[in-house]
Amino acid sequence: MLSLLELLFFPLIVAAASAPKGWHFVQNGTTGIVALEFIVVSPTLAVMFDRAQNNPLQINGHGAWGALWNFETNTATPLDIISDSFCASGGLLSNGTMVGVGGQWPESPDTEPDTDGRMMIRMFNPCTNPSGTGCDVIENPQTLHLAETRWYPSSLRIFDGSLMVVGGTHNNTPFFNVDPVTSFEFVPKKDGGVPRPSPFLERSLPVNLFPRVFALPDGKVFMIANNRSSIYDVERNTEIPLPDLPNGVRITNPMDGAATLLPLSPPFYTPEVLVCGGSNSSDTTPSIELSSQDPASDQCSRITLTPEGIKKGWVVERMLEGRMLSEMILLPDGTVMIINGANTGYAASHSVSDPIGLSNADHPVTRPVLYTPDAPIGSRFSNEGLPSSDIPRLYHSSVSLTPNGNIFVGGSNPNFGVIMNATFNSEFRVEYLNPPYMSVARPTLHNVPVTIPFNHAFTVPVVIPTNLKSTKVQVALIDLGFSSHAFHASSRLVFMNAVLAHDRKSITIVSPPNNQVFPPGPAFVFLTVDGVTSTGAHVMVGDGTAPPVKDQGIRLPL
Ligand SMILES: *[C@@H]1O[C@H](CO)[C@@H](O)[C@H](O)[C@H]1NC(C)=O
Ligand SMILES: *[C@@H]1O[C@H](CO)[C@@H](O)[C@H](O)[C@H]1NC(C)=O
Ligand SMILES: *[C@@H]1O[C@H](CO)[C@@H](O)[C@H](O)[C@H]1NC(C)=O
Ligand SMILES: *[C@@H]1O[C@H](CO)[C@@H](O)[C@H](O)[C@H]1NC(C)=O
Ligand SMILES: *[C@@H]1O[C@H](CO)[C@@H](O)[C@H](O)[C@H]1NC(C)=O
Repeated sequence: MLSLLELLFFPLIVAAASAPKGWHFVQNGTTGIVALEFIVVSPTLAVMFDRAQNNPLQINGHGAWGALWNFETNTATPLDIISDSFCASGGLLSNGTMVGVGGQWPESPDTEPDTDGRMMIRMFNPCTNPSGTGCDVIENPQTLHLAETRWYPSSLRIFDGSLMVVGGTHNNTPFFNVDPVTSFEFVPKKDGGVPRPSPFLERSLPVNLFPRVFALPDGKVFMIANNRSSIYDVERNTEIPLPDLPNGVRITNPMDGAATLLPLSPPFYTPEVLVCGGSNSSDTTPSIELSSQDPASDQCSRITLTPEGIKKGWVVERMLEGRMLSEMILLPDGTVMIINGANTGYAASHSVSDPIGLSNADHPVTRPVLYTPDAPIGSRFSNEGLPSSDIPRLYHSSVSLTPNGNIFVGGSNPNFGVIMNATFNSEFRVEYLNPPYMSVARPTLHNVPVTIPFNHAFTVPVVIPTNLKSTKVQVALIDLGFSSHAFHASSRLVFMNAVLAHDRKSITIVSPPNNQVFPPGPAFVFLTVDGVTSTGAHVMVGDGTAPPVKDQGIRLPL
């Protein structure tokens, strides 16, 4: 029974819910650990990792440092993790298993029972229970580990569905990478587990923590770190150096810029990479001579990774403001969101001359910006209609597109341990940034096959709200990526050819041609009609087998 009060208010609530709201932030729930690593693992769940510290979320009588985030209830459930997952990376394998890699040595003083995480591989198998009951992180330090100790590595799912693990530092590094791991290795192992030395990781020292790495549609890997770039051929184990970023701009930790592979479109899937922000400070200046007030770079550099594009080199654009520690995510309509971070300073904590509390960064940038890749140069950036958050998201923040189609924002902790009385506190509050389509009638996709082979056409029912004319229909296949340290590892958007039936009741979609265009593994399919996006359908792209998987689909014409 509804009470009289509810009866009175019900029409008002309905009216409010159906009124278009535009872009808006909604705070809902707290993560209980700092959501400094975040990866969506099912339609309802994400895995989060933090460091072993005095977190409010408890497990077995101590602070948790891993947890599941539930998008339905907006609550966190602690995970019982053994190894310290601080400043690690990860991704999804071709069989859907999530893998977290690297971390730090045990915390001291020893308030939590963590073990050395630097060589750890943490697995979380596909979880079909919507609330995560019975799903856990699997760790076995004796049998399941990396060949090198790696703190601050990055990772990337490649064409055979395995995870390439890139760089990092062996040990404590207060700012620059002074104890580098200049090699790659793979999960599962290649080459009998022997790491592959990388000249690129040498050449990009000392600003090369969390290298930005991208799987190209020809199977090769594009890498950027410091102001250096390179293409790595996984099969031949060769590197070809590419042009440096212009104007001395450096974009990897501790000078974190944002970088992404732009959406790929048929028929050619021409790869382009966009890199924004970071810093043009020298990489030989000791950190104690740098300032939290040094301006972050407003430079974006974009390159087309074809022979002609490489000859042309990086093309420079400017953001609306300088950004350090910002992250890029790909939205289903093909725009790029740049969110979180600061206008001045650097990554890391307590290493510049004038930290704010312990934060090397200051002047939070609280308003996200959208980049439209195919708009004319000079009019690609816009923050029109985008709100500001009142929560600073500095070092150790995360962001992800969710299966619902809105944007999860969490974390921020430039402190050592949980500090709640600083200028920039340890941040547990979750925000969703809701695009305008979250408050209007949305298209829906139905009966999307659970497994989608490559180069395969399939027809599924759709429901399209009558007010949409369906002038523009886009179907995006998205790897939602692994968020850590301003880098969205394995993030990928491939548009699929799609034809809407005349009666608008079904759509025929063609999957990507092969496992190089979309490395096999889990993904979400989003339908966008005239800028209004559906929720995402969870799919497995490829045959869902364990890596290394065989080549699948058809090759692109050269
Ligand atoms: C927060 O999330 C819960 C669970 O989904 C929901 O019931 C509640 O209405 C949400 N609150 C706000 C303010 O959106
Ligand atoms: C890239 O950085 C290195 C090291 O600081 C510097 O020697 C080189 O000139 C830079 N490249 C460009 C194009 O500025
Ligand atoms: C370095 O970056 C800052 C901030 O974008 C800018 O004001 C300055 O002109 C840049 N310096 C050089 C030499 O490019
Ligand atoms: C925060 O609280 C701690 C413990 O009470 C205290 O030592 C510290 O000075 C406080 N910091 C600030 C900035 O107030
Ligand atoms: C997926 O593959 C990895 C690597 O071979 C393996 O360790 C893991 O157990 C597999 N997951 C499942 C659910 O079988």
